[in-house]
Amino acid sequence: MSSVLEPDEREMRRLLELAVERIVTYIGTLPDQAAYDPDGAHELAALVDEPLPEAGESFESLLALLFDRLIPKGVNTASPGSLSYVTGGGLFHAAVAELIVTATNRYVGYWGGAPGLAEVESRVLRWFNDMVGFPPSAGGVLLTGGSMANLTATVTARAARLTGELAKGTLYASDQMHHSVEKSALVAGLPPDNVRWVPTDEQFRIRPDVLEEMIERDLADGFTPFCLVGTAGTTNTGAIDDLPRLASVARRFGLWLHIDASYGGFFMLTERGQELLRGMEEADSISLDPHKSLFMPFGTGCLLVRDVQMLLRAHRVASDYVATVGALGERIGNANFADLSVEQSREARGLRVWLPLKHLGAGAFREALDEKLDLARFAAQELERISGVELVARPQLSILAFRARADDLDAEALDARTQRIMDIVNHSGPVHLSGTVLDGRLAIRICVLPFRAHAELVTTCIARVRAAVAEASGGSEST
Ligand SMILES: Cc1ncc(COP(=O)(O)O)c(C=O)c1O
Repeated sequence: MSSVLEPDEREMRRLLELAVERIVTYIGTLPDQAAYDPDGAHELAALVDEPLPEAGESFESLLALLFDRLIPKGVNTASPGSLSYVTGGGLFHAAVAELIVTATNRYVGYWGGAPGLAEVESRVLRWFNDMVGFPPSAGGVLLTGGSMANLTATVTARAARLTGELAKGTLYASDQMHHSVEKSALVAGLPPDNVRWVPTDEQFRIRPDVLEEMIERDLADGFTPFCLVGTAGTTNTGAIDDLPRLASVARRFGLWLHIDASYGGFFMLTERGQELLRGMEEADSISLDPHKSLFMPFGTGCLLVRDVQMLLRAHRVASDYVATVGALGERIGNANFADLSVEQSREARGLRVWLPLKHLGAGAFREALDEKLDLARFAAQELERISGVELVARPQLSILAFRARADDLDAEALDARTQRIMDIVNHSGPVHLSGTVLDGRLAIRICVLPFRAHAELVTTCIARVRAAVAEASGGSEST
């Protein structure tokens, strides 16, 4: 007896057609949708507040609930105007790949389970390793995002370099580190006080001179420095640490060098990016985040490790029930994915990256990333022409930051005005910007990363900022 759990071919086609109709309309109208729509968000819970239903309801009505009510609210990270958080937008081609992955539901944790799809994923990792300049000994694993990549790197560094007492281990990163680096250290078992926040220079890059002093002091105090985290594109301003210098500090003190390139890493596909990110190849491990600068959908992160044996050593354990699956075969060179991270069962994550890269070619991505670099520079130039704001961070990659400027206001009043400018822009529709604190003062970030963001959108963004400055300052300081 077949059940409703097993739709026949006709029913499968019907479900797909209904979903495709909604999805295509949704994506086709993205430029007309608000980049940020918080109105009525508090009422959404009531729409799904019910006990577990015993009987089903029509697919059409559920799609209507999703697309008409639930999905549109909040920050629209698929929107071209999503210039706030570090998100790439989510390529449609990757979504199609994901449908194939989940519909065919093959298991890639052990190579022999789905050797074809495991090879596809290994190939993606090889492409990434080649892109960053890692040697053939390198391997890696696709994870759900930059946070998981930073955690996996910290655990690997701990296994490779922290031989003594865990409570004595110290980890170093700049005061601009993403909070997932701090979280990773805590989850990896370090006492919170053993995370060292190294001060940064006027361009928000780690200060290597102070870093060396901190390491020396820790050694003198009986600590075991074991890991240095550099950032290749900070979340706040896109700042890139001096990577060759960090590599030499790491070498001098025998530290594991991890580079968090979650945001900046894929700019390596461009010539300018290669120049800016020089030295990345000297790291022991690198976090990349395809769901950021490779425009993939959320849930696509990556950790690369110069010597894949280190990753394996930190994660591989034996078990009786897995021994038989393992016997199906192991991929020479990268090992089984289930032995390279904490995840055992998971989707065949590589396909959603492989399919768009194969279908569209790397050139399409290079062009899009170059466009983002240009657009960020254009935005900075235009902001400089608005007298009521000042740039706090020029784009090193595709993020910049600015704040309100007025000679007659103190710091507190300026912060209030900066906040007001951001609020006005964010409620105006087409763009969403976010705030952060730089040098103790509020700043507005523009992160030009969505693949759907082009010159017209950035021009609109600047026009909205100009109008917001005029409104926030009573019309006196617009340009
Ligand atoms: C530099 C950096 N590292 C790590 C992360 C965390 O990545 P994820 O949100 O994919 O976990 C982010 C997120 O914005 C980031 O910008």
